[in-house]
Amino acid sequence: MKLAKLSGAVGAELTDLDLNRLSDAGFDELKAALFAHGMVVIRRQSLSPQAHIALAERFGKIDINRFFTPVATHPMIAEVRTKPEMTRVIGGTWHTDHSYDQAPAMCSILAARELPPYGGDTLFASMTAAYEGLSEGLKTTLRSLRAVHSDGSFADSRVGIKADESAFKAPAIHPCIIAHPVTGAPCLYVNGDFTLNFEGWTPEESAPLLSYLYAHATRPEYSCRLRWEEGSVAIWDNRLVQHFACADYAGHGRLMHRITVEGVALPPFA
Ligand code: SIN
Repeated sequence: MKLAKLSGAVGAELTDLDLNRLSDAGFDELKAALFAHGMVVIRRQSLSPQAHIALAERFGKIDINRFFTPVATHPMIAEVRTKPEMTRVIGGTWHTDHSYDQAPAMCSILAARELPPYGGDTLFASMTAAYEGLSEGLKTTLRSLRAVHSDGSFADSRVGIKADESAFKAPAIHPCIIAHPVTGAPCLYVNGDFTLNFEGWTPEESAPLLSYLYAHATRPEYSCRLRWEEGSVAIWDNRLVQHFACADYAGHGRLMHRITVEGVALPPFA
């Protein structure tokens, strides 16, 4: 397997790799690349839905998203679909998958199924780079804070998600700076889609600092942009990165298949 970085802070393209025939040693190499670079893309794959599920199960138990439409034939896979008439898309703002859960998803595996003729890229930003880029003073402050994350934004979703009332759960509270559960690396862990406020602070008190952090976390130098091709499969670690689906292909459809893998409760970075 060969690896080429996509930018200074985040993302790598892996080549000489067939996801349908990955040895245990090859899988360990892929996982190490994921933890080192936050997101990996493997191109020119022919990953069937069954093989997509089998790949996810090598990482852990599949965490079926309770809001997304499942793929009819394979309900463990979520559809990320944009219809040509839609002007908003699923994931069209910076976010971290499942941060509203007590034990948020570890990784997401996205396979391109139908792509628009142009656009529809996905951007990723490194939350380790974002943490490192903060002043020592703000790092210290944030290490003492926890934030409340909620799934409530799915209630007024305008991207074709019809949430069942029973899907909504009580908010989860996570440290603002988590230690990556495998590597121990410090990661900034707040995001604009799901974080409501700092624990013990009102939403109004929290908003100025959260707004600063969202802008800081997604600076171009902490990010990379993934151009999808037929057969591309991307895997990202939701503790290490935020991502953003770019809605710049009005009038065209796009279909991706996503699986998320269960994670663990997130420890604070001490
Ligand atoms: C997502 O937010 O998981 C979807 C990303 C994409 O469609 O590019």
